[in-house]
Amino acid sequence: MNSFTFLLFSIILRICTTEQGYFWHLTDLHLDPKYNVSSDPRKVCPSAGNQLVTDPGEWGHYLCDSPAVLINSSINAMRSILPQPDFILWTGDDTPHVPNEQLSEEAVLKMVKWLTNLIQQIFPTTKVYSALGNHDFHPKSQLPPENNSMYYQISKFWSPWLKNESMLSFQKGAYYSEDLKDVGAAGRMIVLNTNLYYDSNSLTTNMVDPGDQFNWLEDLLQSLELKQEKVYIVGHIPPGFFEKKRDKSWFREDFNKRYIQIIKKYHKVIQGQFFGHHHTDSFRMFYSESGTPVNSMFIAPGVTPWKTTLPGVENGANNPGIRVVEYDRQNLQVLDMVTYYLNLTYANKASPRWEKEYRLTEAFQVPDGSAQSMHNVLNKIANDPSYFKKYYEYNSVNYDLNVCKDVCRVDHICAIREVDFSKYDECVRTESSSSKHAFETNLMFLALFAYIVW
Ligand SMILES: *[C@@H]1O[C@H](CO)[C@@H](O)[C@H](O)[C@H]1NC(C)=O
Ligand SMILES: *[C@@H]1O[C@H](CO)[C@@H](O)[C@H](O)[C@H]1NC(C)=O
Ligand SMILES: *[C@@H]1O[C@H](CO)[C@@H](O)[C@H](O)[C@H]1NC(C)=O
Ligand SMILES: *[C@@H]1O[C@H](CO)[C@@H](O)[C@H](O)[C@H]1NC(C)=O
Ligand SMILES: *[C@@H]1O[C@H](CO)[C@@H](O)[C@H](O)[C@H]1NC(C)=O
Ligand SMILES: [Zn+2]
Ligand SMILES: [Zn+2]
Repeated sequence: MNSFTFLLFSIILRICTTEQGYFWHLTDLHLDPKYNVSSDPRKVCPSAGNQLVTDPGEWGHYLCDSPAVLINSSINAMRSILPQPDFILWTGDDTPHVPNEQLSEEAVLKMVKWLTNLIQQIFPTTKVYSALGNHDFHPKSQLPPENNSMYYQISKFWSPWLKNESMLSFQKGAYYSEDLKDVGAAGRMIVLNTNLYYDSNSLTTNMVDPGDQFNWLEDLLQSLELKQEKVYIVGHIPPGFFEKKRDKSWFREDFNKRYIQIIKKYHKVIQGQFFGHHHTDSFRMFYSESGTPVNSMFIAPGVTPWKTTLPGVENGANNPGIRVVEYDRQNLQVLDMVTYYLNLTYANKASPRWEKEYRLTEAFQVPDGSAQSMHNVLNKIANDPSYFKKYYEYNSVNYDLNVCKDVCRVDHICAIREVDFSKYDECVRTESSSSKHAFETNLMFLALFAYIVW
C-alpha cells in the first residue's frame, strides 16, 4: 500500500467513524433601527448616547449598535458561507443600548419579530435554537421567573422553530430542551434563560431557584447521564467574569456557585456550552476538584460593533463576527470552530467583505475543541506571548490590535481559567504577583545591563 492509498484509507475511515456536522452561532445583533448616516454627529445613532459620532458609514460605526443593513449583511454572509447548517444557535440581545424610556414592550417585540423574520427568510428550512438576552425584554434585564405576555408573544414568533412542548416550557420561563434527532444528530439541546441569574434582575433577588430552572436542568442532566446521552447548553449571559474588566461578574454569587456545581457534576454528558453577551470572543474553563479540565464554554463575538460604555473598559468595541462550529453528530464533540468577520472600517471605505478570521485548531495548534484542548489553548496563551497576542486580537475581532500586558493580561487569563468567584480572586492575586515579579526581575536585569554598559 503506498502512502497515497494509505492517506485515502485513513480519510475514508475518518469519514465513516465521525460524522461531521456544522452549525452557526449568531449572537448580540443589537439592531439600532434609528441608525442614520448623518453629518450631524449627535444624530447618527441613539445607541451612542451623548458621544459624538463623526464620520459614520453605511455599514455602521464603532460607537453605535447595528444598522439594519449590517444585520442583513451578516445573515446573508452566513448563507453564502454555509447555506445548509444542521441548525443555528441564536443567543439573544436584539435591541439597541438605549435607556428604557426610549423603548417599550411593543418596540422590543417589534425588533425581536423583525430579526426572527429576517432569519426565517434567509434560512427558511433551518432549525434555530434561540435564547433570550437581557435586552430582549422591557424593562431591560428584568426577565420574570414565570409566564408573562412577552415570553408568550415571543414563543409565538419562534413557533416555526419550537416543538409544542418547548413552546409551553418557553412561555413559563424562557427555557426549553429538545432532542437533536430532528436535525440529524444524537443528543439534546438545552436552551437556558440565565438572565434570571443576572444581578441586575431585581425580580429574582433572594430567590434560590428562579423559574425552577436549576431543578429542571439537574433532573434533565441526571436522566441524560443514565441514558449516556450527550448535550449542549446554550444561553445568553455566561457565569464567571468579563475578561475586559477586573472583578466584573454578571451572576449573583449563589447562582454562579450552583451553575458551576451542576456543570461539574454532569460534565460527562455536556459536550459544550455556547454563550454570548460579552460581544467579545473568549472561552471559559471548568475544572474538577483535582484540577482536571472537564468542560469549556465558548463565548462568541457579537454582530454589533458597539463600544461598551461599562466604566473601566477602554476602547471596548469590536468588529462584527459570526461563527461556524464543526462537531461530531454522533457524540456532539466539538471538532473545530471557524470565526468570520467584517472589517467595519474597510466595509465603510470600500465594500462589506466577510472574511475568515481564524480556525481554532489552526490558530492554536490543538486537535479539536474538547475541554482538554481548550485547557491546552489556555496554557499556550498564558505562557507564550505570541499565542496571547493572537488570542487578544481575536478577542475584539481584530478591532483592538494594541498590546495587552500586566493588568490587562491577568484579567483575561483569570477570567478564562476561573469562573468561581473566590478562585478568580485567588488567580488574580497569584498572577499579579508573578507578573510583578517578572517585571521586577526584568528591571533588575535592565539595571545590571545598564551598569555593565556604563
Ligand atoms: C438622516 O440623515 C440625513 C442627513 O443628515 C437627514 O437628511 C435625514 O433627515 C435623516 N433621517 C432621519 C430619519 O433622521
Ligand atoms: C440584504 O442583503 C442582501 C445580500 O447582501 C442584498 O441583496 C439585499 O439587497 C439586502 N437587503 C436590504 C434590505 O438591505
Ligand atoms: C402564558 O400566559 C399567556 C397570557 O399572557 C397565556 O395565554 C398562556 O396560555 C400562558 N402559558 C402558559 C404555559 O401558562
Ligand atoms: C402542536 O400545536 C398545534 C397548535 O396548537 C397543533 O395543531 C398540533 O397538532 C400540535 N402538535 C403536536 C405534535 O401535538
Ligand atoms: C481594516 O480595514 C482598514 C481599512 O482598509 C485597514 O486599515 C485595517 O488594517 C484593516 N484591519 C484588519 C485587521 O485587517
Ligand atoms: Zn449584548
Ligand atoms: Zn446581553
